[in-house]
Amino acid sequence: MEKYDFNDRYVVTFDPQNEPVALHTEDLEVWYGANQAIKGVDLQFKKNQVTALIGASGSGKSTYLRSLNRMNDGIAGTKVTGKIIYKDVDINAPAVDVYEMRKHIGMVFQRPNPFSKSIYENITFALKRHGIKDKHLLDETVETTLKQAALWDQVKDNLHKSALALSGGQQQRLCIARAIAMKPDILLLDEPASALDPISTGTVEETLVQLKEHYTIIIVTHNMQQAARISDYTAFFYSGNVIEYDQTANIFTQPQKRATNDYVSGHFG
Ligand SMILES: Nc1ncnc2c1ncn2[C@@H]1O[C@H](COP(=O)(O)OP(=O)(O)OP(=O)(O)O)[C@@H](O)[C@H]1O
Ligand SMILES: [Mg+2]
Repeated sequence: MEKYDFNDRYVVTFDPQNEPVALHTEDLEVWYGANQAIKGVDLQFKKNQVTALIGASGSGKSTYLRSLNRMNDGIAGTKVTGKIIYKDVDINAPAVDVYEMRKHIGMVFQRPNPFSKSIYENITFALKRHGIKDKHLLDETVETTLKQAALWDQVKDNLHKSALALSGGQQQRLCIARAIAMKPDILLLDEPASALDPISTGTVEETLVQLKEHYTIIIVTHNMQQAARISDYTAFFYSGNVIEYDQTANIFTQPQKRATNDYVSGHFG
């Protein structure tokens, strides 16, 4: 939308499409053997925004999300074609150092999966593997990431206790802290709150909303209220395609496609 002001200056009104893009895919296709799970998806993820991926079970949300940091690579018979562009690099190219790339694009899984180590070691493990030994820096990272994940106050006196002694919600927040310890740019989350009670879910949601100041967040969720509460943009997956993508408010109040409307209003899925 464009208009001229009275001085004849060229004025461009707010256009969400002009927000900077952190990551995008071009014609992304994923095959499991002969079964095509993703059928040519083009999506753009806006920087420092939360994008929700929604859709019925089996529509391809997890497959697509996992492709974004090459987590499908290890699955035998899987083929991923198309481009995943991050900072002008196609990270789907064979030459890309996947290990290095995942420092920029981190992942949090559906079930909390802390290592069977202390809280402190869960967060510092990857950093140490990357050669960071400075105790002061490690301590500082533990404190900052636990604060960002809204867990610090509950664990600060027990940092050397086993992570497995935490509640499910606390474990999931620890996994978020562990993921952000590497200071990724982009955080991928696959239904991070589905195994949690409503109170822990609320805390994780608040955490994510606060984190978007520093990170671009892409989250798969089955929970429509959750998508509406925390996301800025929503992509609706339907049978391996994204058939609608818009600002979340539009998806929930004036979807353009019948299937989207049926899904968000609970008629199927
Ligand atoms: N490891 C795998 N091997 C073979 N096929 C798979 C694999 N993972 C997923 N699929 C298939 O790919 C399609 C998409 O699955 P995916 O798990 O991405 O859907 P989803 O939208 O995340 O579903 P849900 O909401 O149930 O988690 C389905 O047909 C599924 O059976
Ligand atoms: Mg899934």
